[in-house]
Amino acid sequence: MRVDPELMLEPLVDGLLSDVLADPERLSVMVEALGSPLNLVVPERMAANAETYRDVFRRNRLSGRTYFAHKANRSSALVRGVVAGQCGVDVASLGELRHVLAAGFTGDRLMATGPKDAEFLWLAARVGAVVNADSPAELAELADIVARFEMPPVPVMIRISGFDSAGVPILSRPSRFGVHARELDVALDLLDRHRDRLRLRGVSYHLDTTGVEEKALALEGCLLAMHRALERGFAPTAIDIGGGFGVNYLADRDQWERYTTELGTAVLGRRPPMTWQNHGYGLRSEAGTLRGTLGVYPAYREVAGPRYLDELLSWESPSLGRSLAVLLLENMYELYIEPGRGLTDQCGATLARVVEVRTTHTGDTLVRVAANSRDISAEDHAVLMDPVLLPERPGAPASVYLTGNLCLEDDFLTRRQVTLPRPPVPGDLLAFVNTAGYFMDFAADHALMQPIARTVAVYRDAGGWSWCLDEQYWPGKGSSS
Ligand SMILES: Cc1ncc(COP(=O)(O)O)c(C=O)c1O
Repeated sequence: MRVDPELMLEPLVDGLLSDVLADPERLSVMVEALGSPLNLVVPERMAANAETYRDVFRRNRLSGRTYFAHKANRSSALVRGVVAGQCGVDVASLGELRHVLAAGFTGDRLMATGPKDAEFLWLAARVGAVVNADSPAELAELADIVARFEMPPVPVMIRISGFDSAGVPILSRPSRFGVHARELDVALDLLDRHRDRLRLRGVSYHLDTTGVEEKALALEGCLLAMHRALERGFAPTAIDIGGGFGVNYLADRDQWERYTTELGTAVLGRRPPMTWQNHGYGLRSEAGTLRGTLGVYPAYREVAGPRYLDELLSWESPSLGRSLAVLLLENMYELYIEPGRGLTDQCGATLARVVEVRTTHTGDTLVRVAANSRDISAEDHAVLMDPVLLPERPGAPASVYLTGNLCLEDDFLTRRQVTLPRPPVPGDLLAFVNTAGYFMDFAADHALMQPIARTVAVYRDAGGWSWCLDEQYWPGKGSSS
């Protein structure tokens, strides 16, 4: 098999995670005792990441609040890492709400988002969380709960989608969530009828896109919606711009550019396949011409996380004539953000044990690990990134396919060949880095009765690091207390 070390996509690893990965013997003992796969989370890093977003607020002289989008990870240690700092949490289910209340959050630090059933609405209202309403019907149901149970008025936000662009049309993708911008008045009429039960805190959006332009359009739309609410006699104070600030996963821009270029060449058949059955990730060859669009996450991103937020806030609004940060400031609006993936950057890794290495009749190397594509679901989120092979040993690079422990033809941890610094052997560990945001437990299940990963929290201690089971982590553990 032809091995091209240039096709590596080495992950970016820093902070406590790199110290932890530097001790493969200890990790091996942990996996021996707790099983493979094993999730590691770094709760202290959540607070440090939150600070980087607060810096952006400070630089732009904005006040507001960061809500961690809990859906990114189920770990108790991570939410306990957050409760010890200044952030709130965005909860999107009754289970998440109960989880964060048990971690010590009070209702005033919580934002309830997503589709809500009556029980979720009831508990959110009972604890005084902000309810980020998805529709007028949800507001009506909430008003009814508040009246029936004689609760104090509940702060609410109206989630808006479908923003219109003035001038040059900007695509605003359709969403199944929220009130269409043109139907805002329907929601305001409803709030008007329930002024003693629901208090309008402001308006919100969350867009599942990396495009700054589209988000800037949505933020402009929210500014206009705030204006409309003020005209109607409400006193909203905050705009919530959701999450989606992203993460840079890769260490090297050249590797990323080379990989994506070569993938096109492979799809055209002008070099050996780089993926299982020459899968094109959205690209295809039509009569020798490359067609389609590469449907992967931009795993190498110069502008991600807090820098992305800064870029959005610096965006000059063509219709309103000033940067979005200045417009928020002039109107004295608070800015709320709900980063999930961005806040969990470098907050976790997943370890998997190599079980078997075999060569197919076509000469491909298949490396089977004690984990599957639901345990480590980066591929599902179209994030292309190599794992780290532990322990480090000398050897020649090897390009291999990573297969999982499910009896399913398509259970590949990644459909692309990964290039490891040496050939792996049974007993080695693969560390999948930066899995805390959606890749470690979002999709994990007990298919085929395979075990799902246990999660342990790692923290700095006595000049090194210690660990405990996820549920045993509370703020103050370790030397940083
Ligand atoms: C309402 C809402 N807020 C925040 C987020 C977090 O997004 P991200 O993890 O991309 O920052 C999501 C993700 O789906 C969401 O639906």
